[in-house]
Amino acid sequence: MIVAEKINAARDHIAAFKNIAGEGFVFADEESLKNYGHDETENLLFLPDVVIKPRTAEEISAIMEICNTHGIPVTPRGAGTGLAGSALPQFGGVLLSMERMNSILDIDERNLQVITEPGVITEVLQNAVKEKGLFYPPDPSSRGSCFIGGNISANSGGPKAVKYGVVKDYVLNLQVVLPNGDIIWTGANVLKNSTGYNLTQLIVGSEGTLGIVTKIVLKLLPHPKYDLLMLVPFNNLEKAGEAVSAIFRAGFTPSALELVEIDALQIVSKMLDSVAVPVNDSIAAHLIVEVDGNHLDTLMSEMEAISALLEQFDCGEIFFADDAQQKAELWKLRRRVAEAVKLAGYTIEEDTVVPRAELPALIHGVKELGKQYHFHAVCYGHAGDGNLHIRIKKEGSIYSLNNPEIVPALRALFTLVKSLGGTISGEHGVGLIQKEYMDIVFDAANLSVMKGIKKIFDPNNILNRGKIFDL
Ligand code: LAC
Ligand code: ZN
Repeated sequence: MIVAEKINAARDHIAAFKNIAGEGFVFADEESLKNYGHDETENLLFLPDVVIKPRTAEEISAIMEICNTHGIPVTPRGAGTGLAGSALPQFGGVLLSMERMNSILDIDERNLQVITEPGVITEVLQNAVKEKGLFYPPDPSSRGSCFIGGNISANSGGPKAVKYGVVKDYVLNLQVVLPNGDIIWTGANVLKNSTGYNLTQLIVGSEGTLGIVTKIVLKLLPHPKYDLLMLVPFNNLEKAGEAVSAIFRAGFTPSALELVEIDALQIVSKMLDSVAVPVNDSIAAHLIVEVDGNHLDTLMSEMEAISALLEQFDCGEIFFADDAQQKAELWKLRRRVAEAVKLAGYTIEEDTVVPRAELPALIHGVKELGKQYHFHAVCYGHAGDGNLHIRIKKEGSIYSLNNPEIVPALRALFTLVKSLGGTISGEHGVGLIQKEYMDIVFDAANLSVMKGIKKIFDPNNILNRGKIFDL
């Protein structure tokens, strides 16, 4: 009944929305509603009532004023590559697509900063600043299709996070439209800022629940001149996990340190028809190790020293990627694992993160839980960060949301993660599908503070309602 009321409310204002965003940028046809009703999360679909593609912060502000007055739910959306359901319009209402806000506004070479709109594809932004010799490191696997705005919303990471940090480490200032239509800047375009509460960092990772990001100021670095890449096979998955923390303890900081379990590699190699990585029955997992910097000799000796160290962990024959093409091929295999394993039936994805040295315990625990709860899991991800993506396949269960066959297994998994000092999500967010596990990692007092913040920003609970937690 409540949903029906909302449907009418959103549709009642189509003429006003068209007046604001333009006749051609407001949609209520079935195909549009379906296209914007899903992201990459499991197989979930929630139809919005209206899709709007605004061009400016002022248009969004005017749209928000209407929605706030009439209690219409609004779901902001980037490129729809999310894996936690943050962009799913669970309550219908208005779906606000940021795809037309896709200009890079200024690359400030004097200050090593870029000002961009949220609908720019992350890799497009990276390439644009690279042309000026500059570097924006956060590189989620989906960087060829995801939007920088979505990366802010999830506080994304990616392989380079292990050396360079995640999105939050690069965001200096944000223009944000608040649920009541006010437009604010959260900070200043400076590298240090102790002026008041840090609203910039509060918005980063808030999954579109507090405001809609319309302009982004990012810090940049000089682009490193060289990188070297190697692929290291292990015949024991936990041993590969042990080797990871040894690398850091020995004083190295790779620019990427990824783990891919053999099943995942076989699946993605098959999907891409690639024979780049020879696999045999004795291999359990690979580590992908990258170092970068400006001095090739130093990097080469670093790689040699890391290889010698890894040999102490019974690794197999190490493969060094010789040229740009081999590196690109390895990275393509790694970046497309999520897509490949999903197609192969591993439809439930978790984004666990533990202190790095606990990775072997987590891997061991996942396999034990698989036996206990009858699921098969493949592990891959950003081992150097202790951030393990766990893809689950269970006969008869293709999604996790409210699924009694899956929820107890995930509760057990997250309880294990918590006991190891970790948490539920390292880089994908809580969104819709992880929210029912928040009590495992936060106590009531903590959740109450978070909910209080939400109420201050969005007293009518119109913006991305039901994400992260229910009020
Ligand atoms: C990855 C995405 C799923 O690491 O985060 O491939
Ligand atoms: Zn990842």
